[in-house]
Amino acid sequence: MEHFSKREIDQLSKIYKLNLINSATGYKSAQLVGSISPEGNENLAVFSSIVHLGSDPALIGMILRPTTVPRHTYSNMKSTGVFTLNAIHESQIEDAHHTSASYPESISEFDKTQLEVEKKENFIAPFVKDAPIQMACNYVNEYHIKENNTLLIVGSIEDLYVKESMLLEDGWIQLDLGGVVSINGLDGYAKTKLIERFPYARPKND
Ligand SMILES: Cc1cc2nc3c(=O)[nH]c(=O)nc-3n(C[C@H](O)[C@H](O)[C@H](O)COP(=O)(O)O)c2cc1C
Repeated sequence: MEHFSKREIDQLSKIYKLNLINSATGYKSAQLVGSISPEGNENLAVFSSIVHLGSDPALIGMILRPTTVPRHTYSNMKSTGVFTLNAIHESQIEDAHHTSASYPESISEFDKTQLEVEKKENFIAPFVKDAPIQMACNYVNEYHIKENNTLLIVGSIEDLYVKESMLLEDGWIQLDLGGVVSINGLDGYAKTKLIERFPYARPKND
């Protein structure tokens, strides 16, 4: 095994360290976050830090990088109170990745990619058309992480849309049936394949 001590990690070059540490914690959720400014400018950005916080109430968390540069997703969700989460289909990965490019606020990533806006009634933030899973979310709260000046954003799931062919009878979504990708590090997009599903684990009495 290669070994990297904390001291060695600290001394690595920026890109090597970024790749190493971003990959080491495993495959991550791949989501496109849709938002809109109060002036009506639509925005789309790829995020890999979306996590499940709880199902009752249905809450998600996401980590936002330091707001030392303009963060349109953040300013939009703060000012409008809403955003969307859109799972990325394997056919969308190149465009999904491109949404991480730093465009000025007036330019919509929807106009710079083949990704198309889908609007739903009574929700102002844009969804990604043909995303296998779409969620309408409210911005609920944020927590400053002082160790690295990031923010943990808490959002509530207000509406959830799932492609029918992925939704099983017990409510479980089989992500690979919908071609949902995951992220390896910061620039690798991976297909997944379900191996097995297990019943609720109980202690063995032997
Ligand atoms: C694969 C990938 C994952 C990313 N995940 C995050 C993330 O979890 N949090 C974050 O703040 N930025 C993340 N980014 C960076 C944003 O996509 C990037 O800063 C984008 O320009 C933000 O757009 P905005 O200013 O329109 O919000 C990620 C970039 C890539 C390529």
